[in-house]
Amino acid sequence: MPKAARAKCVAVSAVVPEKRLTNADLEKMVDTNDEWIVSRTGIKERRIVADGEGLSTLAIPAAQQCLEKAGVSAEDIDGIIVATVTGDYLMPTTANIVQDAIGATKAFAFDLANACNGFVAALSSATAFIESGHSQKILVLGGDIMSSVLNYKDRNTCILFGDGCGAVLVEAGEVDGPGIVDFELHSDGSGAQILSLPCSGSANPPTPEKLANGDHFVFQDGRTVFPHAVRRMAEVSTNLMEKIGITKDDVDILVPHQANLRIIEPTARRMGVSMDKVIINIDKVANTTAGTIPLALADAEERGLLKDGTKVFLVAFGGGFSWGASYLTWGR
Ligand code: ACO
Repeated sequence: MPKAARAKCVAVSAVVPEKRLTNADLEKMVDTNDEWIVSRTGIKERRIVADGEGLSTLAIPAAQQCLEKAGVSAEDIDGIIVATVTGDYLMPTTANIVQDAIGATKAFAFDLANACNGFVAALSSATAFIESGHSQKILVLGGDIMSSVLNYKDRNTCILFGDGCGAVLVEAGEVDGPGIVDFELHSDGSGAQILSLPCSGSANPPTPEKLANGDHFVFQDGRTVFPHAVRRMAEVSTNLMEKIGITKDDVDILVPHQANLRIIEPTARRMGVSMDKVIINIDKVANTTAGTIPLALADAEERGLLKDGTKVFLVAFGGGFSWGASYLTWGR
């Protein structure tokens, strides 16, 4: 089917909580140390929400700042998609809460759960809405409050994650103008149990006993996830490059999911992209699950590396397993 429009990413914003949780802070909570965390992951600190704050605490200002930067009014938004696995509630969706708070009166709103691949999946969904001619302007948010599902007594997981949320405004533009050239999404449900929130839904609803046992916290067999993440991030990136006929020279910045610096480096290497083109902020904010890519995009913009015309490659891998990539030219 011919495209009615091309989906353009025209503005980005990111919001993280005030509170910093450093590796030194974690040394006082679990048997770990700064040297182990930095050498194994690249993480130095992460941000954590205060008691009583949920994803919408970050998502609402992220959405408002994004619209302000784009010069677009909330009433003109057709849809809001929030990628997350830690929304304020399972029902209502965080997207509905954002929609009401910002006054996006005509927008549809839904959450999309695809773990660390959530932002790439949500952006791809928005692209499909726009390319079909169904929508003109969609706010795509990605964020997680990982502190709400972390066991701060489990050194295997608590050092890896943080809280944060970002937003990107996606608009319809000329079919041959700048915007999203293509995307790829993949899944392999055989990895479902290796990285999971075991007590979070209808199959295993929480009970006082399960909560006391900590069954609602993130479980990850990191050593098993690691090679899957390295293989799939590299594979989907090189596949997409080949499919759309681009080389490393067509990538101005690579914005990968920030799970581990030791996963990012081989991905860039396989793509032939030099590390000076790779946006890394894992040291400051850790793995914010669906938040990593919009947070890194906002970081790139702040550093002057993301402007109208910048050629951007996004790639992610996460729980499920699910993974994906997207290639675009930024701006209007
Ligand atoms: N501090 C000190 N020692 C630790 C810590 C810690 N915080 N955590 C684990 N260790 C110990 C382990 O117990 C183990 O000790 P042992 O050998 O006596 O058993 C030792 O350190 C080595 O552990 P490994 O698991 O081999 O360490 P590894 O080099 O694999 O690094 C890590 C662990 C960082 C978790 C890595 O495996 C990883 O990054 N995995 C992938 C994470 C990922 O990509 N997740 C997907 C995205 S997240 C999402 O979708 C929600």
